[in-house]
Amino acid sequence: MAENLSESVPVFTDSPLKKRYRTAESFVDFGPEQKFPSRPVENTITVSDLKLWYGPVQALKGITLNIPKNCVYSFIGPSGCGKSTFLRTLNRMNDMVPNCKIDGEVIVDGANIYDKDVDVVDLRKRVGMVFQKANPFPMSIFENVAYGPRIHGVPKKDLPGIVEHALKRAALWDEVKDRLKSSALSLSGGQQQRLCIARTLAVDPEIILFDEPCSALDPISTGKIEELMMELKSDYTIIVVTHNMQQAARISDYTAFFLSGDLVEAGETIHMFENPKDTRTEEYITGRFG
Ligand SMILES: Nc1ncnc2c1ncn2[C@@H]1O[C@H](COP(=O)(O)OP(=O)(O)OP(=O)(O)O)[C@@H](O)[C@H]1O
Ligand SMILES: [Mg+2]
Repeated sequence: MAENLSESVPVFTDSPLKKRYRTAESFVDFGPEQKFPSRPVENTITVSDLKLWYGPVQALKGITLNIPKNCVYSFIGPSGCGKSTFLRTLNRMNDMVPNCKIDGEVIVDGANIYDKDVDVVDLRKRVGMVFQKANPFPMSIFENVAYGPRIHGVPKKDLPGIVEHALKRAALWDEVKDRLKSSALSLSGGQQQRLCIARTLAVDPEIILFDEPCSALDPISTGKIEELMMELKSDYTIIVVTHNMQQAARISDYTAFFLSGDLVEAGETIHMFENPKDTRTEEYITGRFG
């Protein structure tokens, strides 16, 4: 669901980038940390003319998009435009939806994930997903993280090391290292979301899909998840659906804007926010519709 957009409405001026926001100027600082590749980028996902129908209703109308490796890529657009649907096509989560038909290609690391012989379990290991609402299993913190490696056949003796590494990578280890046997449900919402990230990391993915991962979190927990996503891009490709324009501007290298099942515009976040090519993009990111 959409967050309150009024909190995150950027206002364009002709002043330097960091002055673009009327309400939260300091939020957006494309300083030295936000680096853009100076050499040709390697794409990890290449989507060509992807169409999707739920029964008779067409939710994606021919999406073509390249997603580079080791970046944070945001998907933005008004509610119902197809962001989650598109995100789910990247690891075939829509396969589980009855009457869902897909046409087109999604190439991940050189192979079309919709080819008949693709092992979907292996695909979802390589392309992990973190949902809007943290969904830990009703078991211990340790078992939540160990679950994936265990079902993928990792020997029991290796599990503690994998769990510790994943929890450290998800910036949760220090908070839970003395209570690994406690129920995951005893954690706070923000901790549960980091646990779900640790659970995803534990199976060693290449790409992580996040569908509005912060929309149920307070600003401090949101900050932690955002920091984490930016850190993780050094080892993974991070794709995040967000309704929060400031979040997209803060954390993502690239942004794609969707509207009514179409991809209106995609490119480097800095360019899209500063100089959108399409008036509909400008209207959306300045809060004039959506
Ligand atoms: N399982 C489903 N069965 C039928 N229609 C669906 C299903 N999931 C989504 N849709 C429809 O597909 C369209 C795109 O939905 P989607 O959830 O991808 O939008 P969204 O951009 O993620 O919206 P939001 O920002 O509200 O999460 C909508 O019209 C929605 O009603
Ligand atoms: Mg959605």
